[in-house]
Amino acid sequence: MSQQKLSRREMLERSMFATAAAVAAQHANLPVAYSQGVKSPNETIRVAITGVNGRGGSHVSELKSRSNTEIAAIIDVDEAVGQRAIAGIEKDTGKRPLFFTDIRKALEDKSIDAVSVATPNHWHSLAAIWSMQAGKDVYVEKPVSHNVSEGRRCVQVARKYKKICQTGTQSRSEKGMREAIEFVRNGGIGEVKLARGLCYKRRGAIGPRGTYEPPKTLDYDLWSGPAPIKPVTRPKFHYDWHWQWEYGNGDLGNQGIHQMDIARWGLGVSDLGESVLSYGGRLGYEDAGETGNTQVCIHRYGDKRLVFEVRGLETPDLKAPKSDAEGAKVGVIFYGSEGYMVMPSYSSGVVFDLEGKMVKQFKGGGDHFGNFLAACRSRNHEELNADILEGHLSSALCHLGNISYRLGEQLPVKEIAKKLEGDAEALETFGRFSEHLVANKVDLDSKAYFGLNLTLDGKAEVFTGPNADAANPMLTREYRKPYVVPAEKDV
Ligand SMILES: NC(=O)c1ccc[n+]([C@@H]2O[C@H](COP(=O)([O-])OP(=O)(O)OC[C@H]3O[C@@H](n4cnc5c(N)ncnc54)[C@H](O)[C@@H]3O)[C@@H](O)[C@H]2O)c1
Repeated sequence: MSQQKLSRREMLERSMFATAAAVAAQHANLPVAYSQGVKSPNETIRVAITGVNGRGGSHVSELKSRSNTEIAAIIDVDEAVGQRAIAGIEKDTGKRPLFFTDIRKALEDKSIDAVSVATPNHWHSLAAIWSMQAGKDVYVEKPVSHNVSEGRRCVQVARKYKKICQTGTQSRSEKGMREAIEFVRNGGIGEVKLARGLCYKRRGAIGPRGTYEPPKTLDYDLWSGPAPIKPVTRPKFHYDWHWQWEYGNGDLGNQGIHQMDIARWGLGVSDLGESVLSYGGRLGYEDAGETGNTQVCIHRYGDKRLVFEVRGLETPDLKAPKSDAEGAKVGVIFYGSEGYMVMPSYSSGVVFDLEGKMVKQFKGGGDHFGNFLAACRSRNHEELNADILEGHLSSALCHLGNISYRLGEQLPVKEIAKKLEGDAEALETFGRFSEHLVANKVDLDSKAYFGLNLTLDGKAEVFTGPNADAANPMLTREYRKPYVVPAEKDV
């Protein structure tokens, strides 16, 4: 399905079928370009994979042995990482992909149809936007953005250039998850006013803050990309950027975005809500990390709430009320007027009645990359299970939580309760939050951030109210040229 092949085919088709296609498109209520761009199921989709140290390795495994799909290129700013992936692909498939360190060079190759992105978060949106502007379809890892505004820009670019853009929240393609969410949204547990997302995932200290060298095989200017070039202050270069604000979004935007997405999906809300409040800290150890390891975010949608809890210290799982059955650690719990839905994994949901008795289970996997490739052929973004719009909205909720947190005042943990007085649900969550810290021997006199309670115009995706002036600039970042996400008017 290379663009070279496409243009040859287009030349033939234009003379023979252009009128028929336009008529068919009118009937199907689709833009003409979509219907003319339909790919045959037999044409090979040539994919370039961007960033192959950790998750990009799974992109390789997902794509290397599919029929009618070829890994055409590997892009990595760390040559050693890229060459290691190439050697593995050549061994397994007999074909040696091209290698690029700079994505812009790869995007000049017209034979590449699609780009998958598994770089650090601060590169996701820019890599996706440049790829779509160069005519490629995109599979972009979660979170799709490092800030709210660039995620919205990805949606705008995907629509303007009529590109397929799938978010890497793979649970959206799992059968068990899809059926469980449908059950919740169809009233299976009655009216749901509370969804609790859980990222209870042990995260140790990442070593002392200092000055360290990036890997010798890595182009640090390209790695930094849209972020300022700063000395490296963490001992382990790859992966641990998740815990530093210039590049990552903490565990909210690492593991947590999967569960934030499931919680928002099940609540059936498709904007950024009315308000956000977050509190927490990096508690229990001191290291080179900056993001919270223990954090609560409360997002309000009218009388519905999405509460998200991050716990990087040791903790037991959370169960449905009154239940002795296994609960969830990395999961979601929906609280309904007639029961509870516990999602303990990416692909299952367990229903409990109000007495805590298990009454129903949903299970079963899926094929998220397969869903992406099928939509690349059909040219219909509505067939995607995790279209970029969904990815943007859920990623944005993580960013909003971090904005509230980062604008907060520092208080002894025990004083946070006073700030939540009169709000029973918030106090219950805080009660468990402080018990958890005590269990991990964290003194409740330790300082934590109590974030600003920020109000929002959730559809316009801007903060309103008294703290808007402080919060709105944090919806974007200052991009280091030439790694600049275009403004809305320049797309
Ligand atoms: N969907 C999932 O289940 C899942 C699981 C793990 C990670 N992820 C996501 O995948 C992303 C990568 O995570 P990781 O753990 O592999 O990180 P990592 O730091 O281990 O690897 C990132 C790789 O990207 C390369 N890179 C950096 N900038 C680049 C650029 N501009 N062009 C090309 N390559 C570049 C780095 O050299 C490195 O090899 C993260 O955003 C993470 O959130 C998703």
